[in-house]
Amino acid sequence: MNNNFEKRSIWLENRKVYMIEQNLLPHKYEIFISENYKKTCFAIKTMIVRGAGAIGAAGAFAMWQAANEAPKNNYNNFIEKAKEEIEATRPTARDLFSGVESVYEKAVISPEEALKAAQKFADKNAEAGKKIGKYGNSIIEDYTNILTHCNAGRLALVAHGSALAPIYEAHKSSKKLFVYVDETRPRNQGARLTAWELNEAGIRHAIIPDNAAAWYMSQGKINMVITGADRIATNGDTANKIGTLEKAIAAKEYGIPFYIAAPLSTFDKECKTGKEIPIEERDQNEVLYQKGQDKDGIIREVLVASPDSEALNPAFDVTPAKFITGYITEIGIITSEQIAEIFK
Ligand code: MRU
Repeated sequence: MNNNFEKRSIWLENRKVYMIEQNLLPHKYEIFISENYKKTCFAIKTMIVRGAGAIGAAGAFAMWQAANEAPKNNYNNFIEKAKEEIEATRPTARDLFSGVESVYEKAVISPEEALKAAQKFADKNAEAGKKIGKYGNSIIEDYTNILTHCNAGRLALVAHGSALAPIYEAHKSSKKLFVYVDETRPRNQGARLTAWELNEAGIRHAIIPDNAAAWYMSQGKINMVITGADRIATNGDTANKIGTLEKAIAAKEYGIPFYIAAPLSTFDKECKTGKEIPIEERDQNEVLYQKGQDKDGIIREVLVASPDSEALNPAFDVTPAKFITGYITEIGIITSEQIAEIFK
């Protein structure tokens, strides 16, 4: 097995932000380079960079870029406005705010302090992914079939991933695994990105339609579910990609353990329950149109729905803590009851 999962999905080079262009995968592997904070905001908004941890690092780097670009005679005002602009790119992932806030605190001192803070945030996210992998591996038995939803592999964090981190580790330690990959409409992060990452790591898997998971659970084919998270309230309620909730309900019905893997930066200590988590609504065209590569290798977008219909597109849902077996974090596997204590 290669160690590609240790490679970064977003990084700084020559004082520019480099990131894997996730909208083009799996068809094309390209690097998007951002020279200024507005361009990094654009990358977050258009999901060139996506996945809670990677968005967090992008927000942290954007906050440093803003400090770097700020005019000396209007420094504080400029960075404050930029902070608001970066935070407005995507509302649900707590990591975006964790990243921006940690850099803003240092940006008020100087751009160079902001740079150190941004790099530290990104390094910490990669390190958290690595530890999540080790702790998560301890609860994966040999010959396990795991279901995952959306994309929480190495692309979704700075490195290692969250939900896939334990899977990478288990595979590395020669455990026999099979991963059921929810395609994750409308943007197909499972079919496009998770499947690409599992292929890259040489892990056996199959993409399944979004509505097939409960059936496979009922047939005893799935032994465990691991997903990532975008924001976790202190009571354990968890926002993750739309469709997570129904998987958790089905898992409970069939007695299948359901784990959330996430770094501590995804927990929101200001948020007491899932009701307080803002849920992003995205453009209806993501539902009405689908993008893919035709047989000539050209990437095209096609209408897949009735042209006169409107669509609704909530990007996340909230899974109540009662459906979640445990949270795989960089400090170990914790229960919902322990969260409030940790963040006291
Ligand atoms: O809208 P996305 O693609 O950024 O949503 C991503 C997910 O929901 C992931 O599963 C999530 O970020 C958790 S893992 C970092």
